[in-house]
Amino acid sequence: MAAYLLGIDVGTSGTKTILVDLKGKVVASATENYPLLTPKPGWTEQNPEEWWRATKKTIRNILRTSKVKPGAIKGIGFSGQMHGSVFLDKNHKVVRPCLLWNDSRTADICEEITRRIGQKALHRSVSNPCLTGFTLPKVVWLQKHEPRNFAKVHNVILPKDYVRFRLTGEILTEVSDAAGSLMYDVRKKHWSKTILNALEIPEDWLPEVRGSEEICGSITQAIAKETGLKEGTPCMGGAADQPAGAVGTGVVNHGQVMCSLGTSGVIFAATGAPQVDPKERLHTFNHAVPDTWYLMGCMLSAGGSLAWYRDHFAEIEKKEARKRRVDVYEILMEKAARVSIGSEGLFFLPYLTGERSPHKDPYARGAFVGLSVRSNPDQLIRSIVEGVSFGLRDCLEVVRQQRVSISEIRATGGGARSPFWRQMLADVLQAPIAVLESEEGPAMGGAILAAVGSGEYKDVQQACSKMIKVKSRVKPKKRNVAEYEDFYDQFVTLYPTLKRSFRGCVDLGA
Ligand code: XUL
Repeated sequence: MAAYLLGIDVGTSGTKTILVDLKGKVVASATENYPLLTPKPGWTEQNPEEWWRATKKTIRNILRTSKVKPGAIKGIGFSGQMHGSVFLDKNHKVVRPCLLWNDSRTADICEEITRRIGQKALHRSVSNPCLTGFTLPKVVWLQKHEPRNFAKVHNVILPKDYVRFRLTGEILTEVSDAAGSLMYDVRKKHWSKTILNALEIPEDWLPEVRGSEEICGSITQAIAKETGLKEGTPCMGGAADQPAGAVGTGVVNHGQVMCSLGTSGVIFAATGAPQVDPKERLHTFNHAVPDTWYLMGCMLSAGGSLAWYRDHFAEIEKKEARKRRVDVYEILMEKAARVSIGSEGLFFLPYLTGERSPHKDPYARGAFVGLSVRSNPDQLIRSIVEGVSFGLRDCLEVVRQQRVSISEIRATGGGARSPFWRQMLADVLQAPIAVLESEEGPAMGGAILAAVGSGEYKDVQQACSKMIKVKSRVKPKKRNVAEYEDFYDQFVTLYPTLKRSFRGCVDLGA
């Protein structure tokens, strides 16, 4: 009987589940969306029950459409949005909606934590600065602002670990998601007593940490009945969505780089040892591959900036997309492609929800700079795409400064599907962009980890070599590179100029 793996990605806009065979061919795929709650400016939340509802629906859907026998599914692997805080009470019920990775309510809490622990001690203990997106400040926020909820907390877990818990009944995590909590010593690989003791967070709130490819429970009888999966199917640890995306694109060895263009935008460089940017502009976390780490620059609103334009200003494009039966992003890209490089001097700063890398500034905001009477919607669209690409270049420059040599970049995420944007990335980042046969990214990473954990492949590298194929490579175009370079030089002057004004204008609604 042929063998299959299930990969479940608990994302920010929805949960995507894929069924793949041992060659990495996607046999079935299902996505179920859910809302992003923004109860106050700077707040982003989601109800974990929504992830669970979406997971069940996508699993049932896949089993129905693929007609694959549940017994042929050898393992289930996970991927999920990073850093979210799922608070569980003693009966394992969710205490309040999860605070997400792009929530910035904890700006003052981060300053307080940094004061209490000290920047150097933070650096020594967890190799990263305290930033609003991470899990630790969310726990301290709950303690300070919702003491009644805080008193109920029994466990703090990450989004995809919650979904695995609902499938298996086991409360566990794995190394790559533990790393993003800021409570985990990423060099020594254990929960950091220094951090937990300093902030009076009980260590037993945090789950046991396993390897990403290790088994973390199996499908229970009740869940088998509810979903159609086979009882006892092993569920692997899986990984946080960025390392899962890296596994899903074969970025698993030192020096390999991934660029992910989803809601967030990420430059991810795998490293054979924990490397830390002395100025802390990049994160240093554990990869889903044993004894491998990564340097990551994370922009909070990459594809998110274009989604913002689509949602509020793209009525004409939406109408056209319906008429031509194509995705509205295709139309947006066609319009951007009509404009020349540099959008006639119009720049977009993509900091709609603050920024994490390289600026570490929850108060940063989006801006169009250089509007003129000639500015038109096509130019606005192109300047957004260019602004996001320049933001990624900012992150890549910091990776280059850490002496990681980059031979090519593997692209993934919705934005990477556009040939126009891929060429722009090659030109702006000045590196060839590899395009893969499968564009499933994090969900594929989950499936690959499941293939390793269930013993189908001996390790992640072997599984990647069998399950991932490069389809084509986009090379930088010399003339474009030079033109973009001039505009990038101007782009980098804008944030430092506006920084103080942002700080004065922005209320984070804590
Ligand atoms: C990475 C990060 C985001 C989310 C998006 O640090 O916060 O990429 O994981 O899903």
